[in-house]
Amino acid sequence: MRLTVIGCGYVGLVTGACLAAAGHEVHCTDIDEKRIDMLKAGKVPIYEEHLEDVLKRAVAEKKIIYTANSGEAIRTGDVIFICVGTPPKESGEADLSAIDHVAREIATEARGPKLVVEKSTVPALTGLQLRKALSAYSRTSDIQFEVASNPEFLREGTAVGDFFHPDRIVVGVENEKSAAIMREIYAPILERRFHCPVHNGTCPDGSGGQLLITTINSAELIKHASNSFLALKISYANVISDLCERIGADVEQVTHAMGLDPRIGTQFLKAGLGFGGFCFPKDIQAFIHLAGTVGVDFEMLRAAEKVNKQRIDRYFEKIHKALWVIRGKRVAILGLAFKANTDDIRFAPALEVMRRLLDEGAEVHATDPEAMAKTKAVFPNAKFHDDPYATLAGADAALVCTEWKVFRELDWDRAGKSMTRRLVIDGRNLYSPKKMQELGFEYYSFGRP
Ligand code: UGA
Repeated sequence: MRLTVIGCGYVGLVTGACLAAAGHEVHCTDIDEKRIDMLKAGKVPIYEEHLEDVLKRAVAEKKIIYTANSGEAIRTGDVIFICVGTPPKESGEADLSAIDHVAREIATEARGPKLVVEKSTVPALTGLQLRKALSAYSRTSDIQFEVASNPEFLREGTAVGDFFHPDRIVVGVENEKSAAIMREIYAPILERRFHCPVHNGTCPDGSGGQLLITTINSAELIKHASNSFLALKISYANVISDLCERIGADVEQVTHAMGLDPRIGTQFLKAGLGFGGFCFPKDIQAFIHLAGTVGVDFEMLRAAEKVNKQRIDRYFEKIHKALWVIRGKRVAILGLAFKANTDDIRFAPALEVMRRLLDEGAEVHATDPEAMAKTKAVFPNAKFHDDPYATLAGADAALVCTEWKVFRELDWDRAGKSMTRRLVIDGRNLYSPKKMQELGFEYYSFGRP
């Protein structure tokens, strides 16, 4: 099937590449011509494991075509995936102007019927607005547009694996014809007819997932309800962690035991600096806003958001307690990305930590395997190092802000020899307090004695 992807950001890049790997002919476009030129030259503008391999293969097999000519891309595809950004406005409400712009473009450029699929994360009822917009903008033609919602559940860092091995594929449609088209698009994924870059052709059993057909409104709600629930879970674990500190319990033991109950599950109960990234913080706000507009008070989500914002305050209480005066101290930050295996620094807790340290007059040295270039542009006053050991040399304290494997595996004895003071304030609970003490470190983490 011929597909068009509009928007070559993170979601569009992964969606386009993986659908091409599943055997479809995919035409990708973006208003950012530089990005298209980069992709045409075979360069991937983001760091995402396996994406480069999948893209290379799709390009070699001529399954993926990048073009800055959006009209041409729109005319070529039978199905158009809208993957443009929906950033938050000041009020928390999602800004849907890019979706509106794309709807106008599709309506004016299309020469035949299209199924228009919203893949961008949007608040409920956007699909209905999209359908209205398409018919309003195409009122002088008699082209038929169908609309579908196909929310993505990709996690940055494991997005390619998530696409090929989904727990569920949710498709919201208005009729059986659209459902049949979406089933055909995803059949190669569900039937495992693709080369899996993650498992190199030997995918484990039972990782096929299922396709759920729903209404458009339900599909949109499923996305927000899922992300918000995960954010709630993290904030819950963080409150438990604060409680553990007060009463002398260990949050790792508590959440581990809680998670063994299959009704709760072990994931997303990791206490620490809280959630960042471009999904949870903005989705939770958009969901609160949406609920408010239809008269539902989502107090619970506001509380989760408040807990998350306070994580940085809680971290600074620890930093102040351990370091006393911050001004003039040399502090090493390990990890800048909002989580491991990505170069994404949007709403990253580490950046807020860095901003406050610089404001308080610390000399900040930092490292991250992928996110340094982006951070340098925001904080030219900090010093950046490729090597974690060079970052730690001469430091009065090490602050661990992202759970990269390379930090988990650091040789702290070696690092400690060059630090001014053996002090680690761990925002991600990466190390055993006992082991760190044995190595002569003063070690603080979240919710552990
Ligand atoms: C999230 C969802 O997990 C995806 O299912 C969804 O598709 C995506 O948003 C999206 O809407 O596009 P992502 O933002 O990539 O994915 O990252 P997560 O792995 O969910 O982590 C989010 C944040 O929560 C990170 O800052 C992470 O460090 C933090 N986190 C996660 C915790 O603090 N504790 C945990 O136990 C888990």
